Amino acid sequence: MYYEYETLDACIKMFRDMIQLQPGETVAITTDTVSNQDIVDAAAQACVILGGKPLVMIIAAPEGGKAGDDDMPMKALIDGIKACDVWVEYNTKLIFYSTVYDKVVEDPNNRPRYLNQNGVHPDTAVRNIGKVDNRLLGEFVQGISDYMEAGTHIRITTPAGMDLECDNARGRKYTTADGFVRKGEIKMMSGQIGWAPVFSTINGTMVVDGVMSPPLGILKSPIKMKIENGFVKTIEGGADAAAFKEWIESFNDDMMYLVAHGGLGFGPNAKLCGDIVEDERVWGCTEWGIGNVGPQLLNDIPGTHGIPAASHTDGICLNCSLWVDGVQILDEGTVVGPTPEFVEMARKLGR
Ligand SMILES: [Fe+2]
Repeated sequence: MYYEYETLDACIKMFRDMIQLQPGETVAITTDTVSNQDIVDAAAQACVILGGKPLVMIIAAPEGGKAGDDDMPMKALIDGIKACDVWVEYNTKLIFYSTVYDKVVEDPNNRPRYLNQNGVHPDTAVRNIGKVDNRLLGEFVQGISDYMEAGTHIRITTPAGMDLECDNARGRKYTTADGFVRKGEIKMMSGQIGWAPVFSTINGTMVVDGVMSPPLGILKSPIKMKIENGFVKTIEGGADAAAFKEWIESFNDDMMYLVAHGGLGFGPNAKLCGDIVEDERVWGCTEWGIGNVGPQLLNDIPGTHGIPAASHTDGICLNCSLWVDGVQILDEGTVVGPTPEFVEMARKLGR
């Protein structure tokens, strides 16, 4: 196996430092038939080493998101995962955003703590968990997240021609992956800041030049979209743009055009590789969700089930410049603010 020695180390760090697994806890590890099995084995081993009780569930690969509901053994998955203390999801064809996921997490006071590892391979885990100063990264990411959340107006540009603006929703918390999954929490791998702006304030030009997943992997040519009041109005570009347009039109669902969330990547070692969990952490990228809005993003609305749509896709925009209320934080992917302390932390993380 590639990274045969280091993979177990990365999985132990994941359970020990991020999930803070306690002896005797039960751990649902889910995956599917198109995902890497080595990382699942290593995760189960790490779980046993730390005194946990792994329950590995492999399903036949469904279609992604809500579109895959019919393919999944829904009740068995919901009941099995819900009965565990921890859930780590390695599925490439996401349970995340499916009805199974919604049911498992619906009660914030009674749900497994969840770590998203969709599509992760051994080298992804080694690069992004095993070889990262996870504590310093957590401090940096949470600090930037708090600064952004306290602001009002956000503007993002890229060398590829993106120029997008949006406003924060007052009282809506950012969903930031600081690397620590506490009781009741839903977390992504460390190194990402996520938020749902006031949808009607998302305006401008979005240029996706990294990955559009699904339906495409790494793009050969950029996809340029006009965004008006939170909705995709036009999709232009080359063959990739045409394929994406055809995919999104195939749902016949107006809500598939909603810009569902923003995201900011701060994985010190993350590289564009076609695995969305790593791609969305490429340092200085922004990621924009389109389609279904998960309930955790609308945490200012009690009891919400999110905003339904037929599916969900994520687009990565590289080398961003970022301003919060006019204060520059990123300059084409390099941290330049908001204070010298953040610049220093970024340098210590190797960026
Ligand atoms: Fe997304």
